[in-house]
Amino acid sequence: MPHIAEQIRIRALREDDFDAITQIEIANFPDTPRSAEESRDKYQHFDTSRWAREWVAAEDEAGRVVAYGSYRHVPRSFHPDKYHVYVAVHSSRHRQGIGTRLMRHLLGRLGERGATRVISWAREDYSHSTAFLRRFGFEEYARAFESRLPVEAADPRQFAQYTQRAADAGVVITTLQDELERVPHCLPAIYQAHTAMDISEPQDDPDLPTPLAYELWLRDDVRHPRVLLDGYFLARCGDLYVGESALKRTDADPRALRQQLTAVLPEFRGRGIATALKLHTVDYAREHGYREIRTFNSSRNAPMLAINTKLGFVRQPAWIDFIRVERA
Ligand SMILES: CC(C)(COP(=O)(O)OP(=O)(O)OC[C@H]1O[C@@H](n2cnc3c(N)ncnc32)[C@H](O)[C@@H]1OP(=O)(O)O)[C@@H](O)C(=O)NCCC(=O)NCCS
Repeated sequence: MPHIAEQIRIRALREDDFDAITQIEIANFPDTPRSAEESRDKYQHFDTSRWAREWVAAEDEAGRVVAYGSYRHVPRSFHPDKYHVYVAVHSSRHRQGIGTRLMRHLLGRLGERGATRVISWAREDYSHSTAFLRRFGFEEYARAFESRLPVEAADPRQFAQYTQRAADAGVVITTLQDELERVPHCLPAIYQAHTAMDISEPQDDPDLPTPLAYELWLRDDVRHPRVLLDGYFLARCGDLYVGESALKRTDADPRALRQQLTAVLPEFRGRGIATALKLHTVDYAREHGYREIRTFNSSRNAPMLAINTKLGFVRQPAWIDFIRVERA
C-alpha cells in the first residue's frame, strides 16, 4: 500500500479554497478564531506587482483540501533572495508525512528561484511544529508574543498622568475620523508619519525595513470594512502627526479588537505619548462593549511590552521565528 502522503495531490491554490484553509487554521489554533474572509484578506494584502509568491493546496484521494502551504517574498524587509515559507496540515491528518511533502515541494520551488534565506515560524508550545522545522534545518532567530487585554480588568484611570504629560508636551490625541473632518487632505501626511513610525519599530529581521505602499495602506488601514476610523488614534503636535495607535475589528470574534501599530516618532518618545494613545484605545474598547484587545509584539520591543504589561495585557505563548540559510 502506498504511504498516505504519496496519495496527496499538490496543486495551485484556488479562490474557493479559503474555507478549507480557514478550517485547517482553526483546527490547529482553536484559541485564535478567524473567518474565511480574514484568510482571503491576508492573501490579498500582498503586492504581486512588486513581489513573488506561490500558494498551494494539498488534496487527499477524495479531493478534500487537508493541507496548504506558501512561499512569498518578505514585504516588510524585501530582499530578492529571501522568502517566507509556511505549511499547515489539518490536525486530523498530522504525522502522515503530508507536511514533509509540502515543505519539500516549496523548498524545491525556492531552490529553483535561487533563495538564499528562508524564514518560517511556529508557536513555542507546539513542539510538533518546532520539531518539524528543525528537521528541515531551520534555526531559531527571534520571538514575538501575542498579548491580550481583558478590557473589564483594565483600570486606565491610574495612568491619567501620562495623558497629562502628553498634553503638557503640546500633544493632542485625535482620531483619523476627526482629522478627516478637520483637514480633508490629511491622508498623505498621516501615511508619511505611519511609514516613518512603522520602519522605526524594533525589527527582528536583519535586513532594512521596506515601507508599505500608499495604495496598500489606504486599502487595508483606511478604507477596509474592518477599520474603525474613530478607533484609529493619532497624536498630533501642531500640524505634525507624531504617534498612532489603531484598532481594527475582527470578523471571527465580534467582541475582540485587533491592535494595529502603536508607535511614536523617535524624537517624540519618552513623553507619555504611547501610553496616552493606548489609554484611548482601552477607553474606546470599553465604551463600545468590546471584551478583549489583542496585540502582537517582538520580544525585542521592550518599551511596548512594558506599556502593555502596565496596562494589564496578558502574554500568550511566543511565536518563534526560524531561518534556514541555503548553502550553495
Ligand atoms: C508542522 C506541521 C505542518 C507538520 O505537518 P505533518 O504532516 O504532521 O508533518 P510530518 O508528518 O511530515 O512530520 C515530519 C516530521 O516532523 C516532526 N514531527 C511532526 N509531528 C511531530 C510530533 N507530534 N512530535 C514530534 N515530532 C513531530 C517529526 O520529525 C516528523 O517526522 P517523523 O514522523 O518521521 O518522526 C503540522 O504540525 C502543522 O500543521 N502545524 C500547525 C501549523 C504550523 O505551526 N506550521 C509551522 C511550520 S511551517
